[in-house]
Amino acid sequence: MIVTIVGAQLGDEGKGGIVDLYGEAADIVVRYQGGDNAGHTVVHGGEEYKLSLVPSGAIRGKTNVLGNGCVVNPRTLFDELDALCERGVDPDVRVARRAHVILPYHRVLDGIEETVKSEDDQEVGTTGRGIGPTYEDKAGRRGLRIGDLVDPEVLRERLEYVVPLNRALAEDVFGIAIEDADVDATGVDLETAFDVDALFEEYREYGRRLDEEGMLVDAGAFLADRLDDGEQIMFEGAQGTILDIDHGNYPYVTSSNPTAGGAAVGSGLSPGVVGGGEVIGVVKAYLSRVGSGPMPTELAGVEDDTPGYDGAADERAEELATYIREEGGEYGTVTGRPRRVGWLDLPMLRHATRTSGFTGLAANHVDTLAGLDEVKVARAYRLDGEELRTIPATVERWAECEPIYRSFDGWPDVDWDYVAEAGYDKLPENAQEYLEYVSSELETPIYVVGVGPGREQSVVLEHPF
Ligand code: IMP
Repeated sequence: MIVTIVGAQLGDEGKGGIVDLYGEAADIVVRYQGGDNAGHTVVHGGEEYKLSLVPSGAIRGKTNVLGNGCVVNPRTLFDELDALCERGVDPDVRVARRAHVILPYHRVLDGIEETVKSEDDQEVGTTGRGIGPTYEDKAGRRGLRIGDLVDPEVLRERLEYVVPLNRALAEDVFGIAIEDADVDATGVDLETAFDVDALFEEYREYGRRLDEEGMLVDAGAFLADRLDDGEQIMFEGAQGTILDIDHGNYPYVTSSNPTAGGAAVGSGLSPGVVGGGEVIGVVKAYLSRVGSGPMPTELAGVEDDTPGYDGAADERAEELATYIREEGGEYGTVTGRPRRVGWLDLPMLRHATRTSGFTGLAANHVDTLAGLDEVKVARAYRLDGEELRTIPATVERWAECEPIYRSFDGWPDVDWDYVAEAGYDKLPENAQEYLEYVSSELETPIYVVGVGPGREQSVVLEHPF
């Protein structure tokens, strides 16, 4: 059996908790896209672990695979693995030979391009981990793959071609003085970041370690063998549908495919095999967004992030936004900056359901909305006088959409631990009505309702394995 977990919105839907809950029954946890741009916190045995690249299954004794669709920063990988080992965890992590390698210059270029774009308010608000530039080199057929790290001749040959190109981009296009500066704004050592010999030595060593520790796999063949042996596989999507490079709000996207199709391409198993399993869309009961881009259901803006923000939101919207932000802990994990918040957006969720073919929904943060008099959902948009049931293809058109709301009576704050234990029927009635409306609009059953941050704070209706 295969279960794929996909974010239905803009990332930060609480996928980690769902992976953790359902992953208990999996033998293998696979990431199929992205890299160390995905932060997740796992609590296990009273200990808290913060990971950005290693799948959360590592803490629970599962086999973990970083598929060919991932971009892997070996520095991060080994830092995370070493930190886990120091805490007594012995993680089993395999890396696809076809996955691409994030090098220090990718991070430098990520940072420079964001700075340049920000001069015209065009920045994406990336995580600065070099994700975009690494996928650019991949698509440009000049990237380094994990498998190249174990062949010194190939490694040197590839570096000798690609490093001068990226150096020229940094110096001649973006005007960075590599010789005169020790480190860039993010602390990357600029001199070694663009030095073929230094990179060759460091990355050859990573290759040696990956090989010695038996971490290298041909992901598709490895996973197919394990499936044949009757093992259970869980695909852990990072980011979310609206951050998908094809189906998201381009250009405010990441550079990979978090949608379910990415699980096939990014792992080497066929679409039929992935689609033959379950695909669970993780939905937060409202919306939050980091950084720029349209958000028709936004309640009140956030300075520097909301396009055209002039601080003039009405008082009630501001109050609601603050309430949801506080209750939901909607602040950036790294920066502490407030996230933009808004009502649930069905046109967005219809788009997500279609692109990934959800067989079940995980609805998170239902407890966060408790205590409000009224809860709203955008059931459609109005654009040019017409009603629209899904999102337009361009951010410019999306920004012009006016939400058409359906209103629900709010639900009270209750003992959520009790609800989690007692089951769905004990959810406040109005919350049930809200969830059933969303489920029927998306024609997808609800599998689990999140009523708190811990994995035991979940009302489980269906177990996909
Ligand atoms: P990148 O993936 O670092 O290139 O960033 C591209 C966009 O994706 C930015 O808007 C990021 O804020 C967003 N992003 C990347 N990873 C995550 C995540 O794990 N959660 C939420 N947003 C993310």
